[in-house]
Amino acid sequence: MDGVQWMYGFEPDSMSIEWKERVRKLFLDETGEAYTIDSISNLQVPEWKGNLLLIDPKEYPNASSLLGVMWALPHEEHGVRIAAFVIDASQQSDGWGSKAWQHLVEICRAEGKKFIQLEVKAENVRAQKFYRLRGLEVVRELRHYYASGLGLEMKGPVQ
Ligand SMILES: CC(C)(COP(=O)(O)OP(=O)(O)OC[C@H]1O[C@@H](n2cnc3c(N)ncnc32)[C@H](O)[C@@H]1OP(=O)(O)O)[C@@H](O)C(=O)NCCC(=O)NCCS
Repeated sequence: MDGVQWMYGFEPDSMSIEWKERVRKLFLDETGEAYTIDSISNLQVPEWKGNLLLIDPKEYPNASSLLGVMWALPHEEHGVRIAAFVIDASQQSDGWGSKAWQHLVEICRAEGKKFIQLEVKAENVRAQKFYRLRGLEVVRELRHYYASGLGLEMKGPVQ
């Protein structure tokens, strides 16, 4: 799509209800995860370079302009945790996820972060492949993390 780009995002809690609703729908449609508006508001993602929104400028500032989210947050002393990573179906497999990942790796390098970790559903094989190709591996099974079934914690060095 013409003009679509990753932009720095704002704190989830400061989003309007329409934007939070759009994020909720993205998660539900693309990952099956049923977040509530409150759980989105409570995600502690600061306004920093690891907070990215994929935006269609032609639709901005309507909530429909939001086509993807990469919400990473500083984790422990030397790490980053990805709390949310989702791209609208219409934009998947077009390199947007790779671009956001590459950006995050560069931020990590610049800020001295040594590892990236995240949680993913065990059934989400495609996302696991994406992460494996980028150096992450499963370090733990998460039995109570997702309401809908087994989760996996994946972790790897900043490459
Ligand atoms: C997982 C996800 C974030 C990956 O983002 P994406 O934009 O679809 O991924 P990309 O297009 O960058 O890369 C996927 C594949 O597309 C291909 N690709 C990459 N760049 C491309 C380009 N410019 N043009 C066409 N294809 C491309 C590659 O084959 C790539 O495979 P790779 O992993 O071997 O590099 C996205 O598919 C998604 O939101 N999925 C549903 C929600 C989800 O599962 N989220 C993760 C929860 S933990």
